[in-house]
Amino acid sequence: MKNITVKKTKGLKGGISVPGDKSISHRALMFASIADGDTRIKGLLKGEDNMATLKAFRQMGIAIDEVGEDVVVHGKGLHGLKEPEDFIDAGNSGTTIRLITGLLSGQKFFSTLTGDQYLRKRPMKRVIEPLSQMGAKIFGREGGNKAPLAIAGSKLKGITYNSPIASAQVKSAILLAGLYADGVTTVTEPTVSRDHTERMLTYFGAKIKREGTKVSIEAGQKLTGREIIVPGDISSAAFFMVAALITDASELTIKNVGINPTRTGIIDILKEMGGDLKILNEREVSGEPVGDIIVKSSKLRSIKIKGDVVPRAIDELPVVAVAAAFADGTTTIRDARELRVKETDRIGTMAAELRKIGIEVEEREDGMIIKGGRPIGTRDAKSHGDHRIAMSMAVAGLAGDGEMLVTDTECIDTSFPGFEELIKKVSSK
Ligand code: S3P
Repeated sequence: MKNITVKKTKGLKGGISVPGDKSISHRALMFASIADGDTRIKGLLKGEDNMATLKAFRQMGIAIDEVGEDVVVHGKGLHGLKEPEDFIDAGNSGTTIRLITGLLSGQKFFSTLTGDQYLRKRPMKRVIEPLSQMGAKIFGREGGNKAPLAIAGSKLKGITYNSPIASAQVKSAILLAGLYADGVTTVTEPTVSRDHTERMLTYFGAKIKREGTKVSIEAGQKLTGREIIVPGDISSAAFFMVAALITDASELTIKNVGINPTRTGIIDILKEMGGDLKILNEREVSGEPVGDIIVKSSKLRSIKIKGDVVPRAIDELPVVAVAAAFADGTTTIRDARELRVKETDRIGTMAAELRKIGIEVEEREDGMIIKGGRPIGTRDAKSHGDHRIAMSMAVAGLAGDGEMLVTDTECIDTSFPGFEELIKKVSSK
């Protein structure tokens, strides 16, 4: 078992880059595989989640080469995938299993998908229900709600689906199935979830119609391979943003971070808490907004987090809870029921770990109430097998009074290989 020991730092200083965006990396591999021609991907995240996606497409006959740091996908067009001989193993990755389920629903072949012990507990009905309305034939455990899943590829028809949740995985699975359906497929969500699928399909030459929270795609559109540069992952940068804010004498520049407005809830939240964060050098790269973020130590205050900002910061809420633990006053997080069905039940796991470092936390069905104050020092924290819980607790350790041991940290490699080394690199002793 891997562990991380983190000591109180005298400040985080300098300039860093974080690994490529996980959501964009998945989509780059997937869309490049069904595009015509080659796509060279620069800055692809090579974490375990994305490698599961890469392997899945190799199993379906797509040649993918590593050329130096880059990855070149030799796309075979919309109808170029072949039947995989074995299970596709999505590992820990919800995006891999849900998006590929959408993509495979309308193929002319049979496929099976599974994942690790955590993924096999997560709900799949949210994609299987709308895909079944399109005519998909998908079978799974617990009445079709849990992996392993079996897909008998079939003829699909376009639908209009009003999603009850703001989920980019649900939206993307339906849009990908829509490429193989008859007619037009439309998805409406309660608030806009991350829009990387819409942006990247457009970047590959598809026509996507967007109107507020409604997205439509016409079937049979040809995608054309081209170069993609993946920006740094704002979800990974978030750990360093919070770390710099809650430690004394920090000034950190995080270069080349994706600042897509559907993902920048973390910046809005931390600024509202009194955080000194600035975005410089804003530009667009491969259809996505990118910038450099400068963060300085700040005295944080409590706020109320709810509504539209929640889906824009969903993966960052564990580390927001750490910021709240170091802020003055009582922070509430609401409308975040989705946290219950992430890699772990992140309301339960974060509340348990914060209590261990002396923070008063009240759990609510859709969030938590965190009473800020300086947490007491030395404690052991554990990841519960969830990468974002592990990294959030390591961040808390940088600002605690003693030494923090975070156990079972292999899971960090799913999204942020090199996290520990990067923390050590910028920490002043
Ligand atoms: C993701 C969407 C979000 C997010 C996940 C990645 C994506 O999940 O939490 O880490 O790449 O589409 P939901 O769609 O379940 O909200």
